[in-house]
This record gives sequence, C-alpha cells and structure tokens, in this order.
Amino acid sequence: MSHAEDHAGTRRDFLYYATAGAGAIAAGAAGFTLVNQMNPSADVQALSSIFVDISGVETGTQLTVKWRGKPVFIRRRTPEEIERARSEDTAADMIDRFARNANAPADADASDVNRSMDEAGEWLVMMGVCTHLGCVPIGNGAGDFGGWFCPCHGSHYDTSGRIRKGPAPENLPVPTAQFSDETTILLG
Ligand code: FES
Repeated sequence: MSHAEDHAGTRRDFLYYATAGAGAIAAGAAGFTLVNQMNPSADVQALSSIFVDISGVETGTQLTVKWRGKPVFIRRRTPEEIERARSEDTAADMIDRFARNANAPADADASDVNRSMDEAGEWLVMMGVCTHLGCVPIGNGAGDFGGWFCPCHGSHYDTSGRIRKGPAPENLPVPTAQFSDETTILLG
C-alpha cells in the first residue's frame, strides 16, 4: 500500500470537514436561523416558535412582537387598507413581483392574497425589518402608499408591505406563521 492510499480516508475526512466548516460560515453570514437549527441551545429552541395572542388587536392597529431577535408586525387591517392593497396588485410601480411569503411557494406573485394570513385579508404578518439595510419601518399608514415607511433612506411600503418606492429591493417578508386558533397566531 502506498503512502497516498494509506492516508486516502483521512484526506477525504479532512476535505469533508473543511467543506462543512465553510458551509457553516456562509450560513452564519446569511442569517442566524440556520445556525440556530444546526446548533440549538435550550434557550434558542424555546424561542424558535412562539404563540401570539391577537385577541386584543383592534382593527386598524398593529401588534409588534419580538421573535428570534427581530420585530414582527401583526396588523389587523381596515377594509380600506385591504381594498387598497388588492386594487394595487398589478400596479406598474411594483418593485418586487414576488410574495416573499414563507408559507407560499417561492414563485408566488405579490398579489395581496398571497401575502395575507386569511383569505379576507384582515391579518397581515410580516418581519418588521426593512429589506434595504434592516431598519424598522414606521407603520400606521406611514409613507406615500399608506402602509409603512422606513426613514433611514426613504423606502415606502404599501398596505400589503410591498416595496413601492425607495432603495429597498424586496417586499417585507412574511415569516412562517399560521393560526393555531381564532385568536392565536403561531410564529415559526
Ligand atoms: S434601511 Fe430602510 S431605507 Fe435603508
């Protein structure tokens, strides 16, 4: 047996671990969620899914909760906000054509129905993190489109959380979420 063959197994193992290590570093740069899943500590596991009581959220208001270290906006929209979002589904100034909804197929379009929690569109759940550089947008009808406005560099989001004007490239993302009962939303 040659020297090279002797060490083939070791060499393969070394390459495998080196590749895995590079992958972990890349995942860390892209976002902490994957790393958390790969290396879950007890407190992170406890926070990975949370139940949110929405029974006190009035129409036309927004509840902001912290989840996985980031704000999540849970808005109970008015009929006017829903109507406006849906009537602008095909607006020419739509910057991002995709729903960006973790609960929908990756190629789902940005129609409001593809972004809201329920068919009627009353509930909208989104990460409260501007897709430009990560500031927390202001809500309650802010901005030129009556939804959210990020004052950091002037990004305007509509009543569906879709980016319509400014430097942000993508719609505010809808996280993994579902109703666990009529007044409770499960995040994660
Ligand atoms: S971080 Fe929101 S516009 Fe730049």
